[in-house]
Amino acid sequence: MKTILVTGGAGYIGSHTCVELLEAGFAVVVVDNLDNGCEEALNRVERISHRDLMFEHADVRDKDSLDRVFRDFPIDAVVHFAGLKSVAESVSNPDLYYDVNLGGTIALCEVMESHGVTDIVFSSSATVYGISSSEPIPEYAETQPAQPYGKTKLAAEQHLQTLCEADERWNAVCLRYFNPVGAHPSGLIGEDPKGIPNNLAPYLTQVAAGFRDKLMVFGDDYPTHDGTGVRDYIHVVDLARGHVQALEFLADQRGFMPLNLGTGRPYSVLEVHAAFERAVGEKLPYVIAPRRDGDIAIYFADTAKAEMELGWTAHYDMDDMARDAWNWQSKNPEGYKS
Ligand SMILES: NC(=O)c1ccc[n+]([C@@H]2O[C@H](COP(=O)([O-])OP(=O)(O)OC[C@H]3O[C@@H](n4cnc5c(N)ncnc54)[C@H](O)[C@@H]3O)[C@@H](O)[C@H]2O)c1
Repeated sequence: MKTILVTGGAGYIGSHTCVELLEAGFAVVVVDNLDNGCEEALNRVERISHRDLMFEHADVRDKDSLDRVFRDFPIDAVVHFAGLKSVAESVSNPDLYYDVNLGGTIALCEVMESHGVTDIVFSSSATVYGISSSEPIPEYAETQPAQPYGKTKLAAEQHLQTLCEADERWNAVCLRYFNPVGAHPSGLIGEDPKGIPNNLAPYLTQVAAGFRDKLMVFGDDYPTHDGTGVRDYIHVVDLARGHVQALEFLADQRGFMPLNLGTGRPYSVLEVHAAFERAVGEKLPYVIAPRRDGDIAIYFADTAKAEMELGWTAHYDMDDMARDAWNWQSKNPEGYKS
């Protein structure tokens, strides 16, 4: 049985990936500083999978703690989620974002190398492409992130690429996620944002739950079929399964590889809103607001490479994403505190 270190495993995507890893027969060790994660998520991962995992409360920048983890457990490979993800916060506090997202990745790689572990799957982001990309966006599109968050993700990717080029023992798959949405169908784990959600789906479920008055739709005059912005949303369980397939792929020595994880089937804001109305069975109020600076009309993935290299495709559609997001929200109105 292979043992996988999952950094940031107590968070949204990490907890779903732990379920898929355990169900695929891997042993799992989670390192998380619980900055935005929750130990209860890990208890629920164990309930869903009927398997135990190991948890170390530690920061990925703390090399002594990481070193202890690698001495205590026979780690074979790493899935690295631990990081900060708010685009707005990265603009107001770029130093923190470089420290955690890039510094954390460098510290982790140093400790991995000292223990002879050189296979890593990294949580990257479609924000590395910037706003001038073609559509659909292939992995070879120009990388030109528009804000510090995307720049830290690109810098971490470049660090991994440098390691792979310098030493053939290193293998890294950088998964560039589009917009993760939804929750595990059990309703036991899901997205638990602190404060006002930044993303469309948790905002909509909070409108449905009565915590927010209405959705603000930013712009209805884009050159799209209904005038609202069009994005590529992916069910978090599909995303999680992509990590399992990436680990299996890495086992054969691959060097550095960036891969998009999206559906390649984009939806407009109003189509997402309609899917959530169907899932909830009620009208969800919204108002049209002016466009936001920096938003673009259409942004979605070319998924051919992930399909070719990993044999991975997304199975869930927007109605599945809305149903599972609402199932999680309605069973856990206060998130993990419920
Ligand atoms: N959710 C998205 O929309 C999205 C899109 C693209 C990429 N990503 C990336 O995927 C990864 C996971 O995202 P998520 O949505 O699950 O976020 P999340 O905040 O739910 O999970 C991140 C986890 O990392 C932990 N963490 C943060 N800093 C840490 C540190 N210094 N040391 C140890 N643990 C730390 C947090 O406590 C949390 O449990 C992040 O790297 C994020 O940048 C997310």
